Amino acid sequence: MAQKLPYGIKRILFTEDEIQKRVKQIASEINKTYKDEKEPLVLIGVLKGSFMFLADIAKYLTVPHIVDFIALSSYGKSSTTKSTGNVRMIMDTREDLFGRNVLVVEDILDTGYTLAFINTILKARGIKSLKNAVLLEKNIKHEADIKIDYLGFECDNYWVVGEGLDYKEMFRTLPYIAELDIDKLNKEEK
Ligand code: IMP
Ligand code: MG
Repeated sequence: MAQKLPYGIKRILFTEDEIQKRVKQIASEINKTYKDEKEPLVLIGVLKGSFMFLADIAKYLTVPHIVDFIALSSYGKSSTTKSTGNVRMIMDTREDLFGRNVLVVEDILDTGYTLAFINTILKARGIKSLKNAVLLEKNIKHEADIKIDYLGFECDNYWVVGEGLDYKEMFRTLPYIAELDIDKLNKEEK
């Protein structure tokens, strides 16, 4: 029988099983990359969207690591689904990053402004290395040129939710990744 989806969800794009399988593969690549490092890897989750993806990856890491977070705001108040390119830092890391291997964990690459902003800030801190793990990449031409080191999945240019991703703070904790029924939700609001 078809699964009953919450109101406002159109269809599932990646199931919980698919996500967990991919997360394990990514963790094993990360384990290989950092296996000879003595200092713990610093995972930096970009709040709030990356919290589930980061937690899932971290469960399968065998290399020493610690977890830290930053919070940014990239979308202006006028719109919830359109990037303004106006990225601001709301909360910085607690850890001193000097000389550390840093892995930024991000939910989705859309315009790329967010990751470009993070790269610029972190590179100025004398870190030893910088890589990123991104759960989803929208298959559009990104405005900023970003190289993804560990990618979960590619997706079409829908508004997606679940596994940390939200729409107006809703749907973040869905264990799958789904396409939002934005027309339906917009109609309701009018
Ligand atoms: P970028 O700066 O345009 O690459 O946007 C990245 C940020 O926008 C992500 O960290 C998300 O928080 C948010 N975002 C972009 N697209 C989506 C989406 O489809 N669903 C949920 N959040 C999104
Ligand atoms: Mg985000």
